Amino acid sequence: MTLPGDLAKEIARRRTFAIISHPDAGKTTLTEKLLLFGGAIHLAGSVKSRKANRHATSDWLAMEKERGISITASVLNFDYHGFRINLLDTPGHQDFSEDTYRALTAADSAIMLLDNRKGVEEQTRKLFNVCQRRRLPIFTLVNKCDREGEDPLGIIDDVHRDLGIRAFAATWPVRVNGRLVGVYDRADERVILYDTSSDHGQSRPTFNVVAVDDEALDERLGKKGAATLRDEIALLTEAGEPLDPAAVARGEATPVFFGSALTNFGIDVLLERFLAAAPAPVARENGKGLVDPITTPFSGFVFKVQANMDLKHRDRIAFLRVCSGRFEAGTDAIIGRTGKTLRLAQPQEFMARERSQADDVVAGDVVGLHDRGHLRVGDTVAVGEVMEYPGVPRFSPEHFSQVRLGEPMKRKQLDRGLQHLAEEGTILLLYAPSITGPVPIVGAVGRLQFDVLTDRLEREYSVSIRLEPLPYHCARWVTGSAPEANEIAALHGRRMVEDVDGHPMILFDNEWALQRSMSQSTDVEFHDVQPKTRR
Ligand code: G4P
Repeated sequence: MTLPGDLAKEIARRRTFAIISHPDAGKTTLTEKLLLFGGAIHLAGSVKSRKANRHATSDWLAMEKERGISITASVLNFDYHGFRINLLDTPGHQDFSEDTYRALTAADSAIMLLDNRKGVEEQTRKLFNVCQRRRLPIFTLVNKCDREGEDPLGIIDDVHRDLGIRAFAATWPVRVNGRLVGVYDRADERVILYDTSSDHGQSRPTFNVVAVDDEALDERLGKKGAATLRDEIALLTEAGEPLDPAAVARGEATPVFFGSALTNFGIDVLLERFLAAAPAPVARENGKGLVDPITTPFSGFVFKVQANMDLKHRDRIAFLRVCSGRFEAGTDAIIGRTGKTLRLAQPQEFMARERSQADDVVAGDVVGLHDRGHLRVGDTVAVGEVMEYPGVPRFSPEHFSQVRLGEPMKRKQLDRGLQHLAEEGTILLLYAPSITGPVPIVGAVGRLQFDVLTDRLEREYSVSIRLEPLPYHCARWVTGSAPEANEIAALHGRRMVEDVDGHPMILFDNEWALQRSMSQSTDVEFHDVQPKTRR
């Protein structure tokens, strides 16, 4: 039996977050450093060998390896300096952004990574906006400062103007002849000078901490270099945005750190500050009110389902974010969507390619549950009461294809495979009525999802299909007057279909046609996320 105080203590050390960035900003490198410093992995050999291993943390799908992209959003669970970390891995490729958006619903905070030569990029902007909608505290790391890049104040200004969030320098890069040698830590008014002769990012660099007016600074940076740094610091203090931790907690400001995930310079300061200030799980809205993470019995929601993670076992894992209480295997919980009872099985935790039984799972944790087809993305599971956490988004696809089966005898396998993969959220499965029976149509936010579908159907269900592209580019779920919806769908460049839950949807050949229909209709409502399934 666990004491409530013990539960509160456990929950307080949970940090559940994601790293958001545009591809190539250094997310994989930073993730590895977290694992390395946390003692969760041991890197041998040179940094260069990293490339071969770079997808080691989320390469469940063979395709990921073949293409060198990260497809599945997964989680890494590990301990770091007394904190229990649940790091949500977000796929970098934009075709899988839907997975990423969903993973963000499970996060309590985020680290936003920028390339010091590029500042805010397209994917950063999109992911930032998703985080902002939930007012998640966001900490910014301007990465790759081991090479020269844009002026630090220019990047801070870019964050402020482009993303519309107040940004202030939390650290400041210290350079000698253009080379990064340390960072100035504004909160503690200290300069951290790294040993530049240490190995190349394989371990924590050794460093000296000196005060701003310490003579050691003049020795290390030279008189001129030290004077420049002191001027910059004076300017920051007088004219820069002040440090404002309270605004960060409210998601209204972001502290900007400078560093290099490659050489580790400035990374310790970021992690130390981030883990201390990032929120432990807080109360979440479940539609009826706030759910306290400590006093409410177990509840959580599924943000991802992954079928066939291990082909040998043909198993299906539902990734669950625990929102309150403690997970007790063997207890009966209720699935909010169906009202059915689910006996909680032993949860799994993840580290690189390994999974193991999770020990003490409490609010904030993200674990995998073996699922026999009862759970879907967006489902809430709770002990003692029917609950439904809102907010796992299902996005309207932008690409559509009709599924043509290679071997007609395999229709059953096809339907099963399509259904499983649709339940994962890999694709949106739709059916168009026809005289020979419903015709399967698949929709995806990004085209690569189609390749994943074809590949997985072949590999996991032995079904070969051909996808015939359809000329539609947007879709909306429709509710309201069915006759009017049918009239709209009968117009040129439109088509009526149904999703697997029987919700009607209209496909449109372009955004203009959609806008026109929306402005002209009187009794039909259009939705870009799936309307709630009624029980
Ligand atoms: P991603 O997951 O965000 O896509 O980025 P990833 O970590 O894979 O890094 C992308 C490239 O940027 C890699 O180079 C990586 O070494 C480099 N990089 C990451 N952090 C830093 C940094 O702090 N400084 C510098 N200078 N480079 C950094 P690559 O050439 O694509 O791969 P590799 O041969 O170095 O492995």
